[in-house]
Amino acid sequence: MKLLVLCVIIVANVSYNGKASLESFMPTANVLLADTTKNSDKSCQRPCKFNVKPRRCVYDFDIEPAIQENDIPAIMINGMTPGPPIHVCLNDVVIVKVKNKVPDQDLAMHWHGVEQKGTPYMDGVPMVTQCPVSYGSTYEYAFIASTPGTFFYHSNSVAHQSDGVYGSIIVDQPQPLEPHVSLYDYDRGEENTLMIAAKFPSLLTGIIEDLSQVLPTSLAINGNEDRSKLFVIPGYAYRLRLINAAAIECPLLLNVDRHDMMVIATDGKPVKPVSTRHVLLYPGERMDVVVRADQEAGGYWVRVHGRDKCSGLSASAMLLYSGFNYTAMLDEEPKKTKNNLEPGAASIIYGQKLQYLRDSTNAAENVKSVYLGIDRNTVKFKDSDNDYRYLSDALPTKPFYPAELSTSNGVIQINGKNFLYPNTPMLLKPMDVKPDSICKVGEEEKHKQTQCVQVLKVEDKGEYELALVNEGFGSNDSYTFHLHGYSAEVIATWQNPNNLPISREDFHKLDKEGKIIRNERNAPLKDTFTVPNKGFTIIRIQPDRGGTWLLECRSCGLSSLPVAVIINVPLAIPKLVVDSLPKCGNYKPADVLLN
Ligand SMILES: *[C@@H]1O[C@H](CO)[C@@H](O)[C@H](O)[C@H]1NC(C)=O
Ligand SMILES: *[C@@H]1O[C@H](CO)[C@@H](O)[C@H](O)[C@H]1NC(C)=O
Repeated sequence: MKLLVLCVIIVANVSYNGKASLESFMPTANVLLADTTKNSDKSCQRPCKFNVKPRRCVYDFDIEPAIQENDIPAIMINGMTPGPPIHVCLNDVVIVKVKNKVPDQDLAMHWHGVEQKGTPYMDGVPMVTQCPVSYGSTYEYAFIASTPGTFFYHSNSVAHQSDGVYGSIIVDQPQPLEPHVSLYDYDRGEENTLMIAAKFPSLLTGIIEDLSQVLPTSLAINGNEDRSKLFVIPGYAYRLRLINAAAIECPLLLNVDRHDMMVIATDGKPVKPVSTRHVLLYPGERMDVVVRADQEAGGYWVRVHGRDKCSGLSASAMLLYSGFNYTAMLDEEPKKTKNNLEPGAASIIYGQKLQYLRDSTNAAENVKSVYLGIDRNTVKFKDSDNDYRYLSDALPTKPFYPAELSTSNGVIQINGKNFLYPNTPMLLKPMDVKPDSICKVGEEEKHKQTQCVQVLKVEDKGEYELALVNEGFGSNDSYTFHLHGYSAEVIATWQNPNNLPISREDFHKLDKEGKIIRNERNAPLKDTFTVPNKGFTIIRIQPDRGGTWLLECRSCGLSSLPVAVIINVPLAIPKLVVDSLPKCGNYKPADVLLN
């Protein structure tokens, strides 16, 4: 069996001469690194109360390849995929000891949607915020659950995530603070969470050929082959948490037969409630919805249908009224409907069409605009010129496969460049990153190579607007992006109804002429958003927290070189912190002796 192709990732020379000046001091760093309290609590799931001390919630994650019950190999966390749910209260300290037991592969764990206030080095991006966790090592992640909502964690690498390394994160707050608590009776956390992933027939980390041709063969809800069951009592309303845990362009259409869904949050942030029959979730997006058991007592299908790379795939769960005998339903398949839509209910809600719960009254001031043109471009270059590390953590530095890159298929790029992972973690050793590997966003043409460390340096406070234009000259695909560390206001999104490409320059011109309409009143706050083909999405952020935050295409990973930029908000990490974090390449804690 082609379980694992053993490859070694050589992490480039990293010098530790402490060149970076590290004067400033972050108060939270101390709190996290010092073991101030002994009473760590593994079962942090509890009703959240006011005026009680936050807890330390400690999780041990052993990540290793294993064979699932259905004989399909997966990379699992503590023998499970999805991994253990993390369910804590607001302001708890979450500590996850991630042990890498995947032979000869590096990994890093990303906490998708978690803002990492004061702990940018816990964001889980190899060579950007940390040294990758090498085989046999343990990285101790520690961060404060500083915002409530529905999140998830996954390995930073698309391949590892697709192979099974992901799980849910729920951060609760005291009930009276929940903005929509009056709309539901039950919030049962992971019991009422549907986490949906795209499954492949074999381990992606085991394939070294061209991955762009590898398509998923099924969708899994909460990982299992048996159908998930949501039990409800007639007349009551339930808060469901939906997570699209796919790492490829796999939008998911979801509905509950004959039931309305009231959407109350997107990407963990509250929205003005909207009632709908169908929701569409892009990869990495989360949505909280309320379903009231107001139909005739019985059993109803929860249907999930994939689109784009997942088109033709479906999965189902069951919404079961208490007392209903669902034995017969276990052997059934949901009957097909036209376009996978419920008859008579064609409206589809997706996250960036929603409105933030509260209207804003103060106008944005001093907004700086940045234009990012995204497209699939045909580029002539030698494969050996390029850096494939962390495209998939499992790939060796000189893989066999990317012959396609030089062919007509092209690569997806931002402003004509692919992202290059820095030679040393940029956040921790900014002065040690090779200066000639860096290119400034907007000035990429000055750089000769196909790949460069694309950096948007945010010089001062104020508001930044990033216009992502999916030009559509070389492709008909939409792309889903994820912003690390921040929730952005998604103030505009548009797709050309005439199906004509739009260049970054065209967009710029339209914008100057005042033809781009923005929602400055109640744009939804999101960390994951789609950029429609031959269209654009505009986001706004107030970069007030230091760090090297990745803005990455989360759905481009399998078919091209990395597609991302670093939003660099200046910050000097104290030497004390840098020294206490694992070093690149040679970090092997004493208590781990594998092999
Ligand atoms: C439930 O239905 C199945 C067949 O549909 C039947 O065999 C079984 O006895 C029923 N169970 C109960 C508790 O009524
Ligand atoms: C995009 O779609 C159009 C038809 O709508 C087709 O002619 C064209 O070849 C497609 N382009 C790519 C790159 O697939």
